[in-house]
Amino acid sequence: VATATHVTGSAELVEVPGALPGVGHALQLARRPLEFLRRAHAYGDVVVIRLGRAKAYFVNQPEALRTLLIREAGSFDKGIHYEKARVSIGNGLAASEGEFHRRQRKLIRPAFQRARIRGYFDVMKQSTLDRMATWPAQGPDLHAELHALTATIAGRALFSTEFAMATVDDLEQLVDTVAAGVQRRITDPTGLLEKLPLPSIRRFEQALKRMNDSFDAVIREYRGGAGNGADILSLLLAARDETDGEGMSDQQVRDEVCTLLLGGLETTAQVLKWTCYVLGEHPEVQQRVREEVDAVTGGRELDHDHLERLDYTRRMLKEVLRRYPPLYFLSRRPVVDVEVAGHVLPAGSTVLFSPYALQHDPALYPDPERFDPDRWLPGGPAEGLPQISFAAFGAGIRSCIGDHFAMIEMLTVVGCLLQRWTVRRIPSVVVRPKATFVLAPGVPGVELVPRA
Ligand code: HEM
Repeated sequence: VATATHVTGSAELVEVPGALPGVGHALQLARRPLEFLRRAHAYGDVVVIRLGRAKAYFVNQPEALRTLLIREAGSFDKGIHYEKARVSIGNGLAASEGEFHRRQRKLIRPAFQRARIRGYFDVMKQSTLDRMATWPAQGPDLHAELHALTATIAGRALFSTEFAMATVDDLEQLVDTVAAGVQRRITDPTGLLEKLPLPSIRRFEQALKRMNDSFDAVIREYRGGAGNGADILSLLLAARDETDGEGMSDQQVRDEVCTLLLGGLETTAQVLKWTCYVLGEHPEVQQRVREEVDAVTGGRELDHDHLERLDYTRRMLKEVLRRYPPLYFLSRRPVVDVEVAGHVLPAGSTVLFSPYALQHDPALYPDPERFDPDRWLPGGPAEGLPQISFAAFGAGIRSCIGDHFAMIEMLTVVGCLLQRWTVRRIPSVVVRPKATFVLAPGVPGVELVPRA
């Protein structure tokens, strides 16, 4: 495709109505992003959204998304969402591009293979049990605890040696501060915030420096022989490219460690928060999950072999990911002019897509607001859908490398949790989604009480 035009072939590019002069759709997107994205989704395969004066292309339907994320994936960079994350994750997997990205993905993939994740299960379970042991009988501060738990699990899976574990406790706070700082940058369209001498900016910069210093120290120790071969950091350090035999530089390992921590934490923590909300909101779902966990474990401690028999629990988590995909809105940037669903997306333009809008399309998921794990039953209504209709983990070469890790982690946490606690909805508390960089429940709206 040589030129970029508004109209190619018979496909006319529609602009989502309601753009305001000078502002475009930016206010609607900032104030009510979920409603706006669902509305925009209904206008076609590829529609135009105006962000201020700039034009962005919003790609919607499964076929068009397949072109964007799989068929033509090589023609797109990651785009605006990731540029600002570079301050912390550098050239880590989520932000790197092209040939370098492909090489890094190959080097990192073995650390996330199923056989390896089996080894991380013990860390996931023990971390959950350790944290739960500190919870008071009236239940914990749920959101804070789920954050702390995902940070502990990620930290211990990355650095499992005794030396490095000392860093993990300290890391939790630092990672939270860094994640919040990155999120603020990504959601500040003006780019001004990061230049102001605000205390939050100073805190972010200090936390980032301390976090990088501790990663450097751990990497030095591991290079000196302290690694045990079983954790993710050991695997990253040992990885060699199959063609040239080269490994990663210390700087690159640090970027990857930071990417895995930041990429895995906010996402998994939000899904666990939503899961608790759903279990409280739908006691019949909680009952079925609990019965399944009890039947599969026979009332004993959860172990890895139980997980594959937690069919209903897995469907429940998939439905949580459909209703509340944490990365609900993502971007790409064409490096050359690319044709998607008959429209030319010009090189350098902003291209957007929304797993949330897709997963609430009534043509794909009838009665999309209804929480129904049994949609996902073999032979159920979602079975015949194109695979890409479920995009909570993305798709193609840039899809989530931690998807299986996250599912095993969430199954483990939910299993251990319901063996000991009951989730109870607090009816007076209204829970609204808070959609910033990730889709989070604004407040828990549920509490934990010891299981009767
Ligand atoms: C429920 C939890 C999770 C969700 C919903 C999630 C979702 C996603 C999505 C949608 C993408 C693709 C983004 C895009 O296309 O622009 C992605 C990429 C990524 N995720 Fe996850 N993620 C989760 C957990 C994790 C975990 C636990 C890790 C690591 C331990 C992780 C590491 C990454 C990395 C490194 C990438 C970039 C992959 C690449 O570009 O090659 N994620 N994730």
